[in-house]
Amino acid sequence: KSYKIALIKGDGIGPEIIDEAVKVLDAVASYSGFHFNYEELLMGGAAYDITGDPLPQETVSGSLNSDAVLFGAIGGEKWDTLPREKRPESGLLRFRKELGVYANLRPAVVYDELANASSLKPEIVRGVDLMVVRELIGGIYFGEPKGRDENKGWNTMVYSRDEIIRIAHQAFKIAMTRSKRVCSIDKANVLDVSQLWRETVEEVAKEYPEVELSHMYVDNAAMQLIRDPKQFDVMLTGNIFGDILSDEASMLSGSIGLLPSASVGAKIGVYEPIHGSAPDIAGQGIANPIATISSASMMLRYALNENAAADKIDAAIKRALAEGYRTQDLAQFDAKEICSTSEMGSIIAN
Ligand code: NAI
Ligand code: MG
Repeated sequence: KSYKIALIKGDGIGPEIIDEAVKVLDAVASYSGFHFNYEELLMGGAAYDITGDPLPQETVSGSLNSDAVLFGAIGGEKWDTLPREKRPESGLLRFRKELGVYANLRPAVVYDELANASSLKPEIVRGVDLMVVRELIGGIYFGEPKGRDENKGWNTMVYSRDEIIRIAHQAFKIAMTRSKRVCSIDKANVLDVSQLWRETVEEVAKEYPEVELSHMYVDNAAMQLIRDPKQFDVMLTGNIFGDILSDEASMLSGSIGLLPSASVGAKIGVYEPIHGSAPDIAGQGIANPIATISSASMMLRYALNENAAADKIDAAIKRALAEGYRTQDLAQFDAKEICSTSEMGSIIAN
């Protein structure tokens, strides 16, 4: 059996972390009796430099012809002064939109092995296991009108009822496989769009009587995530609130370099770390590849239905951490063995 994987390495640390995920995927495939065919596709600054477009059409069609997309990260200062539609980040937004992956699943799990690596007290974070379900192709990142002139800039936060309904279903379905609690995040005390969000989520909730629904304002949620993160199971959010809260949640686990994500809801899913291209550490061989390796595990689970192989990867990550291996981002508290990006990848693969 063979799977076709579209590989998009991107910019900055993207190539370094994708290479490690491929190492681990090939290792697990050789044990599991299947095989991967990779097709490398361009996106972001790397694509702009070669083709003048941060999202060449080939990247979209190649992805649609694959079984799943494994994506690194894009962006960097070099491209920050380009007009917006030429910038790497526009390529990524357009990519998600063209594939139609409207649901971004971002698990934040605190590894027992790393409870001391968090910036928070171990008793606060030990046992955290939450999932941010973030709407990905609507909201203020896409709403019209948007623009700027010399003195003004504007964006619009728009959600239609249909967009809210489909992301809410994703959240409730996932909650059914977990602790059956959904906390929907909004700013309904101030924003009209949030009032519609809240009403619509309430309606969808009626179809899931076993799931307990609560609502929270986003500012309070930012605080509660630090005060008592274990209260959360599934957090249902719009695009911008989920972006911000999931970066915040990454600090519970110790490093943004640990957190994977899956962008789903369409025929082809995109599996990617939640972090960016980390230009400040690119090329030094110190990036943490675990977020990407863990995204590869989500790809096996959600896109390819290879749950046993996904379990193997998850267990290998835990074992590497239990044995004391740490990349630099995790090393400050309890490192027994500091390792490079590629050493960490090899240890997990082995
Ligand atoms: P970032 O997530 O790239 O980095 C934030 C901080 O976390 C940096 O100090 C970085 O060194 C560290 N970090 C990130 N990933 C790490 C890893 N695997 N191991 C160790 N440390 C890690 O966010 P930032 O700095 O705001 O953005 C940098 C560039 O990435 C920008 O061009 C931005 O637009 C782009 N970006 C791209 C995303 C994507 O491709 N999905 C998502 C977020 C930002
Ligand atoms: Mg972000």
